[in-house]
Amino acid sequence: MTRPDTLEAILADALDRLEAGARDRRHAMHLPIVATADADARVMVLRAVDREAVTLRFHTDVRAPKVAVLAADPRIGLLAYDREAKVQLRMRGTGMIATQGEEVEAAWAASSNFARRCYLAPHPPSSAHPAPLPNLPADVRETEPDPARLAAQARDQFAILKVELEEIDWFSLAHDGHRRALWRRDGRSTWLAP
Ligand SMILES: Cc1cc2nc3c(=O)[nH]c(=O)nc-3n(C[C@H](O)[C@H](O)[C@H](O)COP(=O)(O)O)c2cc1C
Repeated sequence: MTRPDTLEAILADALDRLEAGARDRRHAMHLPIVATADADARVMVLRAVDREAVTLRFHTDVRAPKVAVLAADPRIGLLAYDREAKVQLRMRGTGMIATQGEEVEAAWAASSNFARRCYLAPHPPSSAHPAPLPNLPADVRETEPDPARLAAQARDQFAILKVELEEIDWFSLAHDGHRRALWRRDGRSTWLAP
């Protein structure tokens, strides 16, 4: 196994893995755990990585509780582990929710009608109910909603979450010795004891 030998190569390796996660839904880093400052955490689909800016993009319903949590405190922790590669990425960053603008429109335009259908949910995500519910209108449970309805009823609930990463703690497990490094946006990157 060849492993990155420089701190620059550590960042490149982490970004390669995250990009693969965004591209391939079977990749181990497709579903990172995203933690907010209220000590809550949830699985989210990693949608895109910007290598230059070192940012990640996720999608969410604007009514989800994490949106209000992030407005009060934008700190985010992220965790991704590739079991086969034996690489863990522990990341910290600042979250920004956007519901309007070029990037939001592009993300919406690139989504399938089935993906957009989630945003027709009649109830806010995480709201309490007396019985199990799919939180989808009954007439679209088995079918793809038409684009006009999605534009009229779903688009307003759609938001992107951009995370500007401040730190990536890269950890590679190996029986002949682990390797670990911390990339920092402020330039104070360093090797760490595993
Ligand atoms: C495999 C999987 C993927 C998920 N992807 C997303 C996602 O991309 N965006 C999202 O907002 N919630 C996603 N969820 C749901 C969240 O984990 C969470 O339950 C929901 O967003 C409400 O979170 P909140 O109450 O913390 O706001 C996913 C759940 C699972 C199990």
